[in-house]
Amino acid sequence: MNIAVIGTGYVGLVSGTCFAETGNIVTCVDIDKEKVKKLSSGKVTIYEPGLEKIFERNEKEGRLKFTTSLHEGIKNASIIILALPTPPGEDGSADLRYVLDVANNIGLLLQPGDYKAIIDKSTVPVGTAQKVHDAVLQNLKKRKIKNAEELFDVVSNPEFLREGMAVEDFLKPNRVVIGTSSERAKKLLNQLYAPFVRQGNPVIYMDEKSAELTKYAANAFLATKISFMNEIAQLCERFGADVDMVRKGMGSDDRIGKRFLFSGIGYGGSCFPKDVQALSKSAQQADYNFKILEAVMAVNENQKVHLLPKLLSYFNNDIKGKKIALWGLAFKPNTDDIREAPSLKIIHELISKGASVTAYDQEAMSNVKKEIGDKIVYAENQYDALKDADALIIATEWSEFRTPDFNKIKSLLKNPVIFDGRNLFDLYQMEEIGFHYESVGRKVVN
Ligand SMILES: NC(=O)c1ccc[n+]([C@@H]2O[C@H](COP(=O)([O-])OP(=O)(O)OC[C@H]3O[C@@H](n4cnc5c(N)ncnc54)[C@H](O)[C@@H]3O)[C@@H](O)[C@H]2O)c1
Repeated sequence: MNIAVIGTGYVGLVSGTCFAETGNIVTCVDIDKEKVKKLSSGKVTIYEPGLEKIFERNEKEGRLKFTTSLHEGIKNASIIILALPTPPGEDGSADLRYVLDVANNIGLLLQPGDYKAIIDKSTVPVGTAQKVHDAVLQNLKKRKIKNAEELFDVVSNPEFLREGMAVEDFLKPNRVVIGTSSERAKKLLNQLYAPFVRQGNPVIYMDEKSAELTKYAANAFLATKISFMNEIAQLCERFGADVDMVRKGMGSDDRIGKRFLFSGIGYGGSCFPKDVQALSKSAQQADYNFKILEAVMAVNENQKVHLLPKLLSYFNNDIKGKKIALWGLAFKPNTDDIREAPSLKIIHELISKGASVTAYDQEAMSNVKKEIGDKIVYAENQYDALKDADALIIATEWSEFRTPDFNKIKSLLKNPVIFDGRNLFDLYQMEEIGFHYESVGRKVVN
């Protein structure tokens, strides 16, 4: 099949590459000229494990192309996939400008007799498929195209990939959700997804609105699990209990499950924060106060800086002139994405209190540099960041931070002090080596 993907960011590039991998001819469109230039010259623009290899293979085979022209992208395509940004608007609700602009332009380009299924993969509020439909139709009617309704369908096909696991998730999805009332579009999507669900993972068909809400409900529920466990961690610290023990005890109940119960310094990224906020706003617009979500967001904001009072108290409330080493900048491991990352909030707080920061992250340093420039020092590797530092903060659970050389850490730091926002280390081991070690929801080791 011939497919156009509009928007070539995390979702667009991964989807486009994976659809090419199953033999489709894919043209990815983006308005960012630099991005298109880079991709066209064979350079992958994001870090995602496994992406580069399949990107190179499909580009070489001529199945993956890039352009800035929407016309060029969609002219031969039977499926148009929208993977456009839906950032929070001023009031927190999803800003549909990018999606609707493209919908209007598609309406200016569709040609009589050339049916296309328009698939919305962006995360969008309930009712957006209808808005996209109306925008396309209005423009077709302005052009006096006959039987305009029959020229296209709009389908809601939310994406559930996780950054850091995006390729694996896309190639072997837990489920594919398809919201459509059109048999014609359904047939095309069945064909498109068949290679990805051969092991029997479900393709779940539903109406457009339910599909749109499913995505928000899934993300909001996962964020709720995180904030819930972070509140349990707060209680653990006050009661002298250990959140990791509580987690194991809870998680072995099948009804609760083991996953997504880790406490830490909160969720970040391009999805959970904006999606929880957008769902809360949508609820308000529908005259419903979604109280749980308000609490989920408030807990998460506090949790991002949960380590700071601990650090301040260790240094008698004065960190002026202190040098703090920071391991991890990405909002989670295996990605270079720093959107809404707790690390940024921590950096801001440390600097505003007069401390300096030397940070190390495997993949995210260049993105942080773009955002805050030389406000912090960027280290060559995880140990370089520690030289003469007064304490180490861990903000992202990259695997190479999990079993470091503790003696080396101790010899490089001025004081053997670690504030661990991801509960990476064993308390007894920390005690034995002689660290002052504070984590989340567990006892303080001196
Ligand atoms: N990132 C994720 O993990 C993830 C997962 C599931 C769903 N989503 C959703 O998918 C959507 C896209 O997210 P993302 O993370 O890929 O965003 P992104 O910001 O990484 O990529 C969006 C791309 O769209 C391009 N763009 C903007 N306007 C355009 C236009 N008019 N024409 C062509 N290209 C245009 C931008 O230049 C950018 O490259 C969002 O709605 C997001 O909520 C994201």
